[in-house]
Amino acid sequence: MRKPIIAGNWKMNNTKAEAKVLIQELIPLVKNAESDVVICVPYTVIETAAALTKGTNIKVGAENVAWADKGAFTGEVSAQMLKEVGAEYVIIGHSERRQYFGETDDSVNKRTVQALKNGFTPIICVGETLDEREGGVTEQVCKRQIIGAYAGISASDAEKTVVAYEPVWAIGTGRTATSGQAQETISYIRGVLKELYGKTAEKVRIQYGGSMNPSNVSELMAQPDIDGGLIGGASLKAADFSKVVNYK
Ligand code: PGA
Repeated sequence: MRKPIIAGNWKMNNTKAEAKVLIQELIPLVKNAESDVVICVPYTVIETAAALTKGTNIKVGAENVAWADKGAFTGEVSAQMLKEVGAEYVIIGHSERRQYFGETDDSVNKRTVQALKNGFTPIICVGETLDEREGGVTEQVCKRQIIGAYAGISASDAEKTVVAYEPVWAIGTGRTATSGQAQETISYIRGVLKELYGKTAEKVRIQYGGSMNPSNVSELMAQPDIDGGLIGGASLKAADFSKVVNYK
């Protein structure tokens, strides 16, 4: 059985002072969670978040990681730096990075390799745009992104990864994929992982992301291949995020 994993993606929100308030409110609300609970936060907040959540069931993640160990990469943050401040998870290839910051399947792969090499759990994001869904190429797009992300990665490493299927048209729009649409594509993605890794694909947790919230989480989580959620907007309020975490 795959243990559900609910992860918040704060994106570019919350100063240290704001983060402190939100995390302190969140800790007691999620302490009995049956799922893994992760908050992926801006770089400047990681150390604060790790200190506040120490000894709790909340783990902390970053929202990206450099593919190189160190050197002339202005604006990037290395895995070692992230580890030092207490991050254990890292989101890689979020659609906003692909859309606005030139992230490609190749750079997603390089960042994933680096995350695994340094003991992080990568949360690898894939998903089609509205044009791609309407053009009937959802499966091709997800397949290309998965094959790209996992190039050269062994089965024993793949087992440690988490995939987030996030249809771009459902992110921040309030327009959630139906549980049927989400299940269909996620089960397709598991099939692609099966082609790459055989039985190991059964162990990889695949989240749904895109306007997941307290009112749709139960139905989505009831689907056999949906193992969790990557939560943007609803992770910015302790009451909402804790309801998603405690969906059962
Ligand atoms: P959303 O974002 O929940 O606000 O749609 C999800 C994500 O981008 O990870």
